[in-house]
Amino acid sequence: MKNSMWSGRFSGASDELLKQFNASLDIDKTLYKQDIEGSIAHATMLENCKILQKNELDAIIKGLREIEKEIESKRFVFDIKDEDIHMAIEKRLSELIGFEIGGKLHTARSRNDQVATDFKLFVRQSNQELQFLLKELIKTLLIHAKEHKTTLMPSFTHLQHAQIVSFSFYILAYAFMFLRDIKRLKSSFDLADFSPLGSCACAGTSYATNSLMSAKILNFKDIMPNAMDAVSDRDFALDLLYDIAVIFTHTSRLCEELILFSSSEFSFITLSDSFSTGSSIMPQKKNPDVCELIRGKTGRIYGNLISLLTTMKALPLAYNKDMQEDKEGVFDSIKTAKDSLIILNAMLKELTIHKENMLKACKKGHLLATDLADFLVREKNIPFRKAHFIVGELVAEAEKQGVDISELKDLSKINPIFDEKASHILDFEFSLNSKKSQGSSSVQSVEKQIEILEDFLKS
Ligand code: ARG
Repeated sequence: MKNSMWSGRFSGASDELLKQFNASLDIDKTLYKQDIEGSIAHATMLENCKILQKNELDAIIKGLREIEKEIESKRFVFDIKDEDIHMAIEKRLSELIGFEIGGKLHTARSRNDQVATDFKLFVRQSNQELQFLLKELIKTLLIHAKEHKTTLMPSFTHLQHAQIVSFSFYILAYAFMFLRDIKRLKSSFDLADFSPLGSCACAGTSYATNSLMSAKILNFKDIMPNAMDAVSDRDFALDLLYDIAVIFTHTSRLCEELILFSSSEFSFITLSDSFSTGSSIMPQKKNPDVCELIRGKTGRIYGNLISLLTTMKALPLAYNKDMQEDKEGVFDSIKTAKDSLIILNAMLKELTIHKENMLKACKKGHLLATDLADFLVREKNIPFRKAHFIVGELVAEAEKQGVDISELKDLSKINPIFDEKASHILDFEFSLNSKKSQGSSSVQSVEKQIEILEDFLKS
């Protein structure tokens, strides 16, 4: 062989600059395991279809397993001249078992279906790993949720005090976001459950192969029905990038609140020392770096999605070398997501919740105003709009006295419409449990929500 495995029609050697520029080995060596599994599945199918002899298959599998060991024990020499992981492994295979047999592995296959298969296998595996990590995160949130069903805290809209909720109800909101993230991943997995292997360059092959067989060996449900689509498709990677982007939308919101709630202005929570950092100049500082980093990494995560969308946009069919740019951002998003979910989970396990401070905060912002308006509607048959106005006047009076409406003495003096029945409305726990609608903050509803999540985790 001359210059490279594809150099038959070339007379001159490649320029060094081209070799460097064209190579993707540094990035796609991550796919070595998928490449070996894909090749074993392909060779097994070739033997089954009588395209390879049994002894040839055995030699190929033995050689590929040896390469796997070489890579895992760091004995494998990665040489950029081999261009990518697919060529590097194939070249080494021929060195180990001889070119006569090693050279047969690529029968009825192209690097185009090979790379699509390897990449898809990696994306699918990562998808499942992310699902697992999200489940672990939900489990941690459930521990807090079970413990804090009556830990009162203010909810916010526009970051202004809104209504009474419990810490349990609040944290369950995130658990349900992560549950949807898992479902989103599951549906992406289903869409990616079709093997491109056997599609060859773009038009299929004249050998009587059995792509369904190699697909089944690789645990795909089925094969891609159209070979041209199969080698051109990177939707599966885009789907994962989007799924991860949404996960980061959720984690960044949670992290933002952990930052806010741990500040001295709120003091609702304390992040454990083991997940906080100090300042090089201010001795008193304890910074929520983990939360800030996860919030900050969201930028890169969104960028990776936009980057691959843009690479794929308007690409003519079928494979184009542009598509070699598909992996770096995906690998980065996967690693970033896994690292972030692991540390977020570990940090949340050690979260300290300050019930008293949350309760103190409930006494600001007239959180029970809506409850009073609802009381007027329910007990006095007053239209809601009017009730809203009446309670608004009460709020104005409380503001004048410099107190929260929950601290107002003798409401009937301010407005006789508030008889003694109204006094039990001005109670935080009563307010929490007075919510009757499905999905509300009441303890009963929260228990139902915990059950939904636990059933999901069992499924
Ligand atoms: N390294 C290439 C990639 O990652 C492999 C596919 C190459 N196919 C080709 N026809 N040059 O996309």
